[in-house]
Amino acid sequence: MLLLLSTPFANQTKATSSDCKKTPPQSKGPFYKVPSKIFNNDMTNNGKAIGKKIKVYGKILDNKCKPITNASLDIWQANSFGKYNHKADLSRSRKDNDFFGYMRLLSNEKGEYNFNTILPGSYKVSKDFTRTPHIHFKVTSKQKQLTTQMYFKGNKMNKKDFLFRNTYNNNALEASIDESFRNLTYKFDIII
Ligand SMILES: [Fe+2]
Repeated sequence: MLLLLSTPFANQTKATSSDCKKTPPQSKGPFYKVPSKIFNNDMTNNGKAIGKKIKVYGKILDNKCKPITNASLDIWQANSFGKYNHKADLSRSRKDNDFFGYMRLLSNEKGEYNFNTILPGSYKVSKDFTRTPHIHFKVTSKQKQLTTQMYFKGNKMNKKDFLFRNTYNNNALEASIDESFRNLTYKFDIII
């Protein structure tokens, strides 16, 4: 069931017109699959997943900063050990059976979405390349589609990750902590 946002999220800051640049696209990577958990905004199996619990929220907007209703969001990420719940992930990193790692949401009538998850771990792609923690998003509206990745502002690994570093306007991909919430909450708006 899609959980619509209630009062705690009503104070989301409004995007200004200067924020209306399209969010930079990022690669889908090898670990995408169609989420089987449809319209479930909890990846943590009711908090049983291992790792630091976080909430992520934001808006899906068009290039005039108008909210997009009923956009579909496919969201996927590694668990806290840096392991994807995907058969193509051959790493020996630990699995977590309480962490789904894939979900699909719909933006509500104000273009908003939110979900509960854990901070993803980093993972090694090769001897010399480790991905900084990130969450993948594929957003589909009636007219448009955008695939991108969200990063965690302030993580020192971001600058060492060339997929992040080589992206123009990459500060638009860094989610900030919203300190108005008691629990660790990140805000990430996506402009498609
Ligand atoms: Fe990834």
